[in-house]
Amino acid sequence: MSRCINLKDYLLRKAKYVNLALKNFLPKDDSVISQGMRYSVLAGGKRIRPIFVILAAELFGGKSKDVLPAACAVEYFHTSSLIHDDLPAMDNDDLRRGVQTNHKKFGEAAAILCGDALIIESFRLITRSKSSEKNINEAIRILSYYGGYDVMIDGQVEDTFGIKTSDKKNRTLLVQKLELIQKKKTAALIVASLKIGATLIGADKRSLKKLEIYGTNIGIAFQIIDDILDVYADKKLLGKKGSDIKNDKFTALSLYGKEEAERKADEYVKKAKDAISIFGTKSEIFVQIADYMMDRLC
Ligand code: IPE
Ligand code: IPE
Ligand code: MG
Ligand code: MG
Ligand code: MG
Repeated sequence: MSRCINLKDYLLRKAKYVNLALKNFLPKDDSVISQGMRYSVLAGGKRIRPIFVILAAELFGGKSKDVLPAACAVEYFHTSSLIHDDLPAMDNDDLRRGVQTNHKKFGEAAAILCGDALIIESFRLITRSKSSEKNINEAIRILSYYGGYDVMIDGQVEDTFGIKTSDKKNRTLLVQKLELIQKKKTAALIVASLKIGATLIGADKRSLKKLEIYGTNIGIAFQIIDDILDVYADKKLLGKKGSDIKNDKFTALSLYGKEEAERKADEYVKKAKDAISIFGTKSEIFVQIADYMMDRLC
């Protein structure tokens, strides 16, 4: 229990540090798009992706303030994906981070443009990181690849147009399909965060590979838990209402049921911890975060 409280405290401190930077980087003018960007980014959120950028940099001896623009950039990108994910044509949600979704507050057209603006601004923000031009180029490449048409966007495409809960298909195929969706729509941006933080500090290829395995597994577990919470969580605490059942979404919960889904999440968490153990005592915080994922279900 004390591990959980200490880590929660630690993550809250890191999130506060990220929030201050976000406030500082966001546009200050009164245009509807700038208002929308501030509204959705500053509404809250766990900031797990920017924290991963910072922790990955620290793992290789980097300073958090040097990668802070990149950490915030990843949060911009993530928030844009949430704004678009909530649109009527996608999940059609009206609550996000405890407040009205962007399109409910500003209208659909503004929400689409606001998401676009955050995506584009995220790349500009990365360039403000303190690193070599080569590393910054690579960080931009990483975000555009993992967030792009073949990875995160493709995950969203499959989630939106792909299998529905009611589809009857071969179970092995369904298990593989679900893992791929979760890997693409959710784990990808977590992997990108870890790789961006490490890349800006010049980490070697072998270490990046280990971070990728950690991020993939932790990301899949994260989405399984998100699927469970969509139905079972206290919606006030979650800050969103949950729409998977209404949308007949193909999720870990619809495929496995609650108990098996929890077991699966635990398996992915174990794989993640295994991959990160190569960094010895320095991996402790990553191990704790992996365990903390499961604690979200308590
Ligand atoms: C929600 O992400 C979308 C998923 C990929 C599951 P988070 O659960 O990290 O949402 P915030 O950033 O804390 O609001
Ligand atoms: C969203 O997944 C994934 C991305 C935005 C890329 P979900 O649709 O499950 O996220 P929530 O539950 O709305 O936060
Ligand atoms: Mg969705
Ligand atoms: Mg959604
Ligand atoms: Mg969800």
